Amino acid sequence: MTKKKTWSDRFESALHPAIARFNASIGFDIQLLEYDLTGSVAHAKMLGKTGIISEAEAEELVAGLEQIRQEYQEGKFNPGVEDEDVHFAVERRLIEIVGDGGKKLHTARSRNDQVATDLRLYLREQITSIRAQLRTYQQVLLDLALQNVETLIPGYTHLQRAQPLSLAHHLLAYFQMAQRDWERLGEIYRRTNICPLGSGALAGTTFPIDRDYTAALLNFDGVCGNSLDGVSDRDFAIEFLLGASLIMVHLSRLSEEIILWSSTEFNFITLKDSCATGSSIMPQKKNPDVPELVRGKSGRVFGHLQAMLVLMKGLPLAYNKDLQEDKEAIFDGVQTVKTSLEAMRILLSEGLEFQTARLSAAVAEDFSNATDVADYLAAKGVPFREAYNLVGKVVKTSIAAGKLLRDLSLAEWQQLHPTFEEDIYDAIAPKQVVAARNSYGGTGFEQVRAQIAEAKSLLE
Ligand code: ARG
Repeated sequence: MTKKKTWSDRFESALHPAIARFNASIGFDIQLLEYDLTGSVAHAKMLGKTGIISEAEAEELVAGLEQIRQEYQEGKFNPGVEDEDVHFAVERRLIEIVGDGGKKLHTARSRNDQVATDLRLYLREQITSIRAQLRTYQQVLLDLALQNVETLIPGYTHLQRAQPLSLAHHLLAYFQMAQRDWERLGEIYRRTNICPLGSGALAGTTFPIDRDYTAALLNFDGVCGNSLDGVSDRDFAIEFLLGASLIMVHLSRLSEEIILWSSTEFNFITLKDSCATGSSIMPQKKNPDVPELVRGKSGRVFGHLQAMLVLMKGLPLAYNKDLQEDKEAIFDGVQTVKTSLEAMRILLSEGLEFQTARLSAAVAEDFSNATDVADYLAAKGVPFREAYNLVGKVVKTSIAAGKLLRDLSLAEWQQLHPTFEEDIYDAIAPKQVVAARNSYGGTGFEQVRAQIAEAKSLLE
């Protein structure tokens, strides 16, 4: 540990080594290096353009910053705790490279507007790449849907058999969730892509800076209009973690279904060896670790969202060191959502197989066509509630007799109600039960095909 003091000449001695470690963020904010350099390059150019420093000095700063970028890529720039954070590390190295000229970079800037800028640059890039991953994930869901329009699967409410579904319809529900996730991140991107640089420590600066120029160099859509808010706002990070949390909620729900479906009890899918794991003691086991991990990891992301909300709620304006705690939450949130999306994409595209024979047997073995008998009567003018009660009775007697609805004779049906005719058998066949739900957004094959067409156009 160096004994160097970091601060102005007001300070006479260095930090206690343990406090220096406690204070440092370099262990994690090194992830911002690339964005820090990009932001500093823009700042240096602006200082030159406005005449705050000379053009030659600005060029020297830019060259020095680019050299640091190069050194980092080559593994030659390895700051440590003595640098405290990525911003000080860059400044220290810049002064080593360009000499005293390097000491001009921090003119008209504070680490407060600097770190806020870095975070926004980082997050907008991550948002863009997560949105691209969502698109790929949606494509995988769509491909699976295309193959399974006429594959039937039991539909559940309360985890009790309810009405049979087109498997494509079930999968497209997740497509829609991902569509909203993609749109939501787009909206969050808009509010993230605003430039705080030039807010200074909190109050702006005495120098004639050109904030629009810096913002334009960095491809921001605008500048933060209030310097206090510019340095202390982390709404964009909270919104991101909310967007990330909802992605995880959706991935976790699908994971839960995959876990259930792969159990012996359901047996709707089998997991391929490339995406399943074994047990160290039970040789027969094939475990769904991938969806279990996604389900488990969702909790981390929700935790980061909660941590950020609590972090912010009591902070007086403007910057407080508490804000250094935002980074690990954001970084881990980004990492978790990216790796989870990747794992789910692989699992869905090559890690599982639907047991279609078992699925079609499943929908034929239950009373999930009971609503269709009631609908049959209601279509013939029997008030629905009356029809519902009649069918409830026939379900009860059938269960007692060990029969399914399709096993009842026409005479038995007509005994229940005289309007039943031979066509009742078609009406309660699983395929027809699904096909008949042709209301907009329903599971009927025609509707599912329309949904697929709509989904395709969304991905174009
Ligand atoms: N490492 C600090 C952070 O992440 C940078 C900003 C420090 N600003 C300050 N006034 N101490 O928040």
